[in-house]
Amino acid sequence: MVMAMTAQPAKISTQKEAGTEWWRGAVLYQIYPRSFMDSNGDGIGDLKGITQKLDYVKSLGVDGVWLSPFFTSPMADFGYDVADYKGIDPIFGTLADCDEMITEMHKRGLKLVIDIVLNHSSDKHPWFIDSRKDKTSAKADWYVWADPKADGSPPNNWLSVFGGSAWEFDPGRGQYYYHQFLKQQPDLNIRNAEVQEELLATAKWWLDRGVDGFRMDALPHCIHDAQLRDNPARPLSKGDGKSTIHPYSMQWHKYDKTQPEMIPFLKKFRALTDQYKDCMLVAEVNDDKTVETTIEYTNGPEMLHTAYDFSLLTHEYSSAYLRRKVEEFFATEHDAWPSWALSNHDSIRVATRWAANDKPDVRQTKMLVAMLTSLRGSSFIYQGEELGLTEAEIPPEKRQDPGIGSTGTGRDGCRTPMPWNGAEKNAGFTAANGGWLPVPAEHAAMAAMSQNNDPNSMLNFTRHFLQWRKQHAALLRGTIAFEDADKNVVAFTREVAGEKLFCAFNLSPGTVTIPLEAGYVTLDGHGLAAKTQGQSVELPAFGGYFGKKG
Ligand code: BGC
Repeated sequence: MVMAMTAQPAKISTQKEAGTEWWRGAVLYQIYPRSFMDSNGDGIGDLKGITQKLDYVKSLGVDGVWLSPFFTSPMADFGYDVADYKGIDPIFGTLADCDEMITEMHKRGLKLVIDIVLNHSSDKHPWFIDSRKDKTSAKADWYVWADPKADGSPPNNWLSVFGGSAWEFDPGRGQYYYHQFLKQQPDLNIRNAEVQEELLATAKWWLDRGVDGFRMDALPHCIHDAQLRDNPARPLSKGDGKSTIHPYSMQWHKYDKTQPEMIPFLKKFRALTDQYKDCMLVAEVNDDKTVETTIEYTNGPEMLHTAYDFSLLTHEYSSAYLRRKVEEFFATEHDAWPSWALSNHDSIRVATRWAANDKPDVRQTKMLVAMLTSLRGSSFIYQGEELGLTEAEIPPEKRQDPGIGSTGTGRDGCRTPMPWNGAEKNAGFTAANGGWLPVPAEHAAMAAMSQNNDPNSMLNFTRHFLQWRKQHAALLRGTIAFEDADKNVVAFTREVAGEKLFCAFNLSPGTVTIPLEAGYVTLDGHGLAAKTQGQSVELPAFGGYFGKKG
């Protein structure tokens, strides 16, 4: 027997209907340019390749693109080590290609949000070359330098995210420089006013070229403790699992990141972008207190518009966890706006990461796209997620990624090239003999071209779903309140003036029946196969349901 759904007092009581700015409730499509489309046959994706595929991007029903770095770079961290913030790396094309790409995106009504890497530059950037010359050079204080301890060891215990000490000794200056990522990525000293001005001028230069905003890389990393105090140890706790194998997670990052001096700098960024129409600033935030920091960085009209939340990029997959993460965000009174993602260029693809019994299932990847983009917030879909791509296994001799990543084997598995046409060489990604990473055979079978012709494909599901959700203001701007349904089901209502929707998603590979409050009219099921009977809904494996209060 099915129990009537109890009207739970909404734990989330502080939300209001959101404004109609384009980025609220928007879906952005993340393009990793090396792996999207190669137009010149060198095995690496490029800007012209992106332009060629813009009709495809538009067909997905997304509102815009987040484009990972394409700037001049020695590619030690594949573009996250910038040697010229205003230059296009020749492997990606020219400034003219970039202008053309921006124009073509705008013609199609797509916004463009580009990455801005503020925390560090490349060690080949002229600023760093000058800074490391000596202690009196013009840019001497543009990076974070410190003397060795009396015994020659590094100034403190800070660690690099990618492993080892975050300090590298430079014999020229006789000092250590600080790098939270690779040693080829020295940290800029954002405490220095000239550095702040230069970074703001860079942002202005790109805004003047027509970009619609920035994804601000590694934001909490940007300012360190001025006294360079040691981080405290973080005792291992039960359930820490895999992550604690990495020494970086054995410290509380009290002093190496998330310092209060960041706030005035972020306000300057916001003030700059407010001079342009319809800009979006999205922070990448990942620290010891991600929710608090996210809210702090994005609360109110002087701060950033939104922040990219890491909560759903983990191995944890349960309705209780998903609910807790969203509820935590909205549990206090604030104006902040989250952005959710299930996959990106740093994480194991969700089709594999959350696969039940290690078996990726297209019913699940469909349900996940629907669930992600039904949450209150904006959402990011990573290239290939619309095809249901799985994490690729890259043999050790073909690995490229220098960063440790969440798997311990690097991040290449989520960065393999887009499969466009399974019948072509390299699945249509490049005319070269091979891409910079191989296209796995299982991906060639999931290529966009074949999915395009299949009405039941993941690709066509994504297209229909994203178009459909745009017709429902409640999904774009509404409040969210979770409902108790079943331990395998994420269920919530979304509400704006005049529209209340009930959304339910079965995370499991078994059938689940949940109660349905009276008065809901069943909406398009998108093939998620829910069946209603009286006051109950049967959700098959990975099924989903949408109802509207009549
Ligand atoms: C980017 C990574 C990069 C790191 C350092 C991150 O948050 O997403 O790909 O390695 O910043 O720039």
